[in-house]
Amino acid sequence: MTDTSPVESQVKNWRERADQILEKWLPEGNVVPERLHQAMRYSVFNGGKRVRPVLGYAAGQAVGIDIEHCDAPGAAIELIHAYSLVHDDLPAMDDDDLRRGKPTCHKAFDEATAILVGDALQSLAFHVLARGLNSHIPAEQRLQIIDELAVASGSRGMCGGQAIDLDGVGKQLNVAELENMHIHKTGALIRASVKMAALCKPGIESGQLKKLDHYAKCIGLAFQIQDDILDVEGNTETMGKVQGADEARNKPTYPALVGLDAARSMAKELYDDALQSLGEFGAKADALRWIADYIIHRNH
Ligand code: IPE
Ligand code: IPE
Ligand code: MG
Ligand code: MG
Ligand code: MG
Repeated sequence: MTDTSPVESQVKNWRERADQILEKWLPEGNVVPERLHQAMRYSVFNGGKRVRPVLGYAAGQAVGIDIEHCDAPGAAIELIHAYSLVHDDLPAMDDDDLRRGKPTCHKAFDEATAILVGDALQSLAFHVLARGLNSHIPAEQRLQIIDELAVASGSRGMCGGQAIDLDGVGKQLNVAELENMHIHKTGALIRASVKMAALCKPGIESGQLKKLDHYAKCIGLAFQIQDDILDVEGNTETMGKVQGADEARNKPTYPALVGLDAARSMAKELYDDALQSLGEFGAKADALRWIADYIIHRNH
């Protein structure tokens, strides 16, 4: 794929769109309490790749809905993601000082503020869905979308995965346990990005939903495998987070358990599986295909 491919420029537009929508929902830094709002903005507008909202736009395109429908789900999921990173970096969790090339939230502000930033971003996400979902989406589906995000971010989703991750430090997990951890801590939100967008289509067929969900499950796991690989062979400057942090902290990761080559092969197998699931969508799923490729080849 060249730099100027139509899909790539569309993805760039979607990234910018996601930023604009987030800008609309985040209180300004001069609104009381200023420091909290400044820290929330610091943690959202600091150069994230916006993979999750972009995935939502691409899934919306695959099922043929107006792009506006995917705005609120994309913003909501990105707010949850930003909160998860702020808390993930705290001393009680991964204790990281660098995120997206800048000091982590608790370093730039303080720990109490970082905890509140996470709390407030999470609440804001549900406010965005409650207020922002397009009124043309049937009420039952709007509820399903809200529930999807609630479950994906909670103890049976991202938080659950983070708990398994912290519990696994210094332990030897087997491949099934590691997969379970990754499917939850990272896969759940990626899967929800796709599902929430697809649920914006009135009367979405369950067959279509299943295919997209399978795609998302595969690339969600592949995303975290690539994240683990980058921790070993990536570059601190390019990634904007410290290379080698997992090994230094004895984190359970794919390269640590199965080695780099096997980890790469697993990511590629998941990519192939994901693409197989998109067959019936034809060219409308080209952006989803491009994103799957990006996920396993990215360098940050
Ligand atoms: C990083 O996610 C944390 C993981 C779930 C692996 P991203 O790589 O999407 O982070 P940003 O948003 O682009 O910084
Ligand atoms: C983070 O996984 C997953 C979540 C924040 C839910 P990591 O701890 O591997 O993410 P990075 O490497 O710090 O971005
Ligand atoms: Mg972590
Ligand atoms: Mg971390
Ligand atoms: Mg990581």
